[in-house]
Formats: sequence, C-alpha cells, structure tokens
Amino acid sequence: MIINWFPGHMATARRKLVEAMPKVDVVIEVLDARLPRASANPLLDELRRDKPCLKLLNKTDLADPAATKDWIKYFNAQKNTRALAVSAKKASELMRIKKICRELAPKRGTPGRPVRVVVVGIPNVGKSTLINSLAGRKIARVGDKPAITTCQQQVDLRDGIMLYDTPGMLWPDLSDQQAAYRLAAAGSIGDNAMDPYIVSLFALDFLLQRYPRQLQSRYNLERLEGGPEELLLDIGRRRGCLIAGGEVDPQRASELVLRELRAGSIGAISLELPQDPVIRKKETQVQVP
Ligand code: G4P
Repeated sequence: MIINWFPGHMATARRKLVEAMPKVDVVIEVLDARLPRASANPLLDELRRDKPCLKLLNKTDLADPAATKDWIKYFNAQKNTRALAVSAKKASELMRIKKICRELAPKRGTPGRPVRVVVVGIPNVGKSTLINSLAGRKIARVGDKPAITTCQQQVDLRDGIMLYDTPGMLWPDLSDQQAAYRLAAAGSIGDNAMDPYIVSLFALDFLLQRYPRQLQSRYNLERLEGGPEELLLDIGRRRGCLIAGGEVDPQRASELVLRELRAGSIGAISLELPQDPVIRKKETQVQVP
C-alpha cells in the first residue's frame, strides 16, 4: 500500500509547528477516540518535548466507552499530559477543556496573560469543529482539509485562553499497516486512497473478533459463520446490494458496511486498545495530499 502525503506539505507543517512551540503554553492534540494511537503523529511528541499537552479524544459519541476509559488512563499516566474524551459538536465539555488548559499552565490564564494554545491533529479528527465550538463562532471551516488558518495571528477563545493560529495539520503515520487500515475504516484516509472492498474486509474481520454481538444485531445474523468475505456477501444479500441476476455487488456492500461503521450505526466501536501491538515498517511510504 502506498499513500501519498506530499513531502512539501509535511515540511511546511513541521516548520510551522517548530515556530509555534516556543510561543504556546499548551498543545491541544485532537485524536479520534476510536483510534487514538493511529490518529496521532509521533512527530508531535518529538517537537513538543515537555510542553504540556491536552490529548482530546474527540468523536467519543462513536467510540466504545470502555475502550475510551482505558485510553484516558493510558494518556493520563504520561508526563505533562492530560486526556479528555469529548464530542466537539457538543458545547457541554468546552469549559472543561479551557479549565484543563489553565491547570496545565498555572502561571498563565490571568487577564493580560492568557494561556496560549495550539490545536493540532491529522485531517478529519475534528480540529475545525472544536475550534469553532471553543470560539463560539465560525473561524475554521469544517471539512476544509488542507488547513484551518484564518488571517489572524491569534484568536481570543475567552476565559483566559488564546488560540495560536497556525495550520495545525499533521499527517497520519501509516508505517504500521494495521493502523493504516484502522484509519481507512474510520474514514480518516479517503476511499480513493485505499480500496473500500479491502478496507471493509479488514473492518468485518475486526468486528468479528471484537464486536460480534453488534454485528449480529445490526445485520440480523442468527449465526456468525465463515470469514469476512462470506459475511460481506451475506450482508450485501440482506441489504439488497445486488447486481443484475441477483448476485451481490461486493463494492456496494463494502461501501454500505463502511458507511454504517463510520456513522456509528453498527454500535459504539473502538478500533484499537492501548495494549494492541504496534508494528512499524520503515519501508512503507507515507504520503497523503
Ligand atoms: P479537521 O478540521 O480535523 O479536518 O476535522 P473537521 O472539524 O473538519 O471534522 C471532520 C468531520 O468530523 C466533520 O464531518 C465533522 O462534523 C465531524 N466531527 C467532528 N467532531 C465530531 C464529533 O465529536 N462527533 C462526530 N460524530 N463527528 C464529529 P463531515 O462529514 O466532514 O462534515 P459535516 O457533515 O459536519 O459538514
């Protein structure tokens, strides 16, 4: 699998972050709660060093609450790190985010000395949604993938918090092939980058192992027999993803499964746990535009 991130974009993002680091007090790293490791970029930890970090596990509404609890515990055990599970679309958690930022930078947060924060993360984790919610107005475009910048240098988020306005875009680290499949299954890397059929088989295989009851219930399956290929055909048959002659259209069935997984229709699903192994391959090419 080769997915392309333009090296120029990566270099620019890195340079902007290096420039931003001395000017901020707290880094807010937005992660996808369904896959907090795969949706992180190890470069950030390297660049921020001991700078306090709030790991925001966003899209909690789609994730398995038990897994999210384990991830929060895992991140909270790290140095200078706090973790919080949120749904950036909901305004209710926003005061907690600001409160934690103030706690992470106790010498700031007073009038005239706001806590300066930067929001970073890979595409599609919800950075723009979060920034708009925190600001209480639209300053970043949701779904605007290349950048989240406005023309301003800083945005006052009120309550003693100032947002350092930089393209907080990182790229996903795809050197762990399993992580790449998880990102694709969650919709964090586009369907044009990876074949939805292959991704849906990966997703079904995973669901068979970790969430069999949710699968059975969603697709009215009395038994789970056979592997992901048979299951995909079965689901396609049941849901009318057919071509002329009554055969199942695997492509349509794949798209249906992925759409429902991403929307949370199969259930609250987390695609990885802290104890899952990480297998990085140096030779995998990592590039996405
Ligand atoms: P980004 O800046 O990090 O690239 O992410 P962005 O805010 O653009 O959000 C990516 C997608 O994730 C958006 O959906 C957004 O609505 C959705 N999203 C953000 N936060 C949450 C959350 O807490 N829960 C859920 N379920 N979804 C969330 P979209 O389909 O691309 O756009 P739209 O339908 O909202 O217009």
